[in-house]
Amino acid sequence: MALLIQGGTVVNDDLSFVADVLCDNGVITAVGENLPAGDNVEIVDAHGCLIMPGGIDPHTHMELPFMGTVASDDFYSGTRAGLAGGTTTIIDFVIPNPQQDILEAYQLWREKSEKSVADYSFHVAITWWDESVREAMAVLAQDHGVNSFKHFMAYKNAIMADDEVLINSFKRAQELGAICTVHAENGELVFQLQQDVLNMGITGPEGHPLSRPPEVEGEAANRAIEIAHLMNVPIYLVHTSCQQAADAIARARANGQRVYGEVLPGHLLLDDSVYRHPDWSFAAAHVMSPPFRPQGHQEHLWKALQAGNLHTTATDHCCFCDPQKRNGIDDFTKIPNGTGGVEDRMHVMWHHGVNQGRLTENEFVAVTSTNAAKIFNLYPRKGVIRTGSDADLVIWDPEATRTISKETHHQNVDFNIFEGMQVQGINKVTISQGEVVFRDGEITAERGRGRYLKRPLFSADHSALKKYSAQRVPKPIKRDPS
Ligand code: URP
Ligand code: ZN
Ligand code: ZN
Repeated sequence: MALLIQGGTVVNDDLSFVADVLCDNGVITAVGENLPAGDNVEIVDAHGCLIMPGGIDPHTHMELPFMGTVASDDFYSGTRAGLAGGTTTIIDFVIPNPQQDILEAYQLWREKSEKSVADYSFHVAITWWDESVREAMAVLAQDHGVNSFKHFMAYKNAIMADDEVLINSFKRAQELGAICTVHAENGELVFQLQQDVLNMGITGPEGHPLSRPPEVEGEAANRAIEIAHLMNVPIYLVHTSCQQAADAIARARANGQRVYGEVLPGHLLLDDSVYRHPDWSFAAAHVMSPPFRPQGHQEHLWKALQAGNLHTTATDHCCFCDPQKRNGIDDFTKIPNGTGGVEDRMHVMWHHGVNQGRLTENEFVAVTSTNAAKIFNLYPRKGVIRTGSDADLVIWDPEATRTISKETHHQNVDFNIFEGMQVQGINKVTISQGEVVFRDGEITAERGRGRYLKRPLFSADHSALKKYSAQRVPKPIKRDPS
């Protein structure tokens, strides 16, 4: 059935204007003032509200097998929680085990994700290297719409990509016209610092940030950026958590490099005191990598976001319940790394961003939706309210409030890092593919309705980069042999 959203203010990343929005067959068919309702059209009242593009969370891990267990939110419960919080698209990660066939892993993730209630796509992690991986990257890029490859520079002896993997994969991504993404932490440094901290007798969660100080992230961020510069490939740094990494991005951008940065609401708002909490479960629930940082980094990240040197907000949604976290009761290095937030990102960013005067409503749309759509080539299908775009929308009430709590959230996890936070400005209604899937607290989305999104390669950007590269190729110097 067609939907007509009446009486609201449309907010895109570039402009706000009063307009109705007509949706039919899953797409936006008209945007304008006083659109006629016609027959058989469901009216959605948006008076007093903003109509914004549905959120895109470019970094989630639903039902990820990780550190000896499996993330507790699966593609059904996790995307459902996302819809409740106004997120209508996620980009999750296929993470093959070292030596596992990349295409086989991709198929496995495609099967797991069929239960999604929101649209989704995949980055694919490159965790090892040989000729077959090189070929598989082309198949993924050309046949399956994967235009982004992920590299974990941490997690030694597991999924870590060392420099050999990094360089080969970056080179291949450049040939294909794909973008590289990195988890920037020096995995060898983390490994050695973990042993040092354990040898000091520190086995609790307070050891986690000690073993992963900001320098660990700064070094890896700079290394990945420099390799990407030499390989001439665009790069995106996930979960930028500290001044060192944000500054590395800013420096490279000032130098004309195509570098993008992502930040999580948790890194913008929490500090590392959570790891020294007397309750082990509370402290362990915050164990994620990179860790929450000492005071000072948060404000620096806000400024980088405001300045346009960080571009997207994500959650790295990777939930583990207390019994799972307890795998590391005697050794912090065994606490499964990850926290949730797919349901809370939009609310927290509005409250602490827009209400605090740090972001305009248009900048909010940019950092919660449009920029991710542009960087990962989903735009203008996603990330904008425009005729022809997918009808993924939120009806946002800037006056309405919600108190975030594990008691009421839809995420399948027994903890919430934003517990007790009262936020003002929330979605009354979420619309996905032109269908109301969430209204006033009730989720009505049917299991399996989410669609896999193919993302085309970056042909235009790519050739521009190649031209730039060609100018830098040195010519052999002809010398007189005598
Ligand atoms: O701690 C985290 N971030 N867990 C999920 C895996 C990753 O590093 O993104
Ligand atoms: Zn990561
Ligand atoms: Zn992650």
